[in-house]
Amino acid sequence: MTISYREYSSTSELSKEDQQLISQAEEAYKNAYAPYSHFHVGAVALLDNGKTVVGNNQENVAYPSGLCAERVALFSVGANYPEATVKTLAIAAKGDLVDKDAVLSPCGACRQVIFESEKRQNSPIRILVKGLNGKVVEFHKSTDLLTFAFGL
Ligand code: THU
Repeated sequence: MTISYREYSSTSELSKEDQQLISQAEEAYKNAYAPYSHFHVGAVALLDNGKTVVGNNQENVAYPSGLCAERVALFSVGANYPEATVKTLAIAAKGDLVDKDAVLSPCGACRQVIFESEKRQNSPIRILVKGLNGKVVEFHKSTDLLTFAFGL
């Protein structure tokens, strides 16, 4: 099993298209509803039809009822473009909750959902995450983040 990822020291090293996706994720986190964690996350899915679908974390006072940005974006793809293929999922965040030098990476539940989206569309989803320090990490597929994923 080979796990690979690529690090970029800033968004300026990314292609123009990827820079735009990260900017969109940063726009998206502005609409996060995060009154409890104050951690604002934005995610944008780039589809094979060229459209983008955004998501952001949506919290609730009954904490487990809330949902992460990545799942809001991917479930919205399923709801609105069920036939589309997600090429890339770009993620950005703002807040003090995590160490600013940590790689910002999707939580386990989101990894599982990304994994099943890949199964459903029968192709990998590239994941781009911009950390709080401005560095970007690119993963080529969900199993670079989630080994031995649960699936059929
Ligand atoms: N969150 C995300 O939106 N994505 C992740 O991958 C990790 C965490 C959200 C959930 C919650 O609203 C807040 O960030 C703090 O955990």
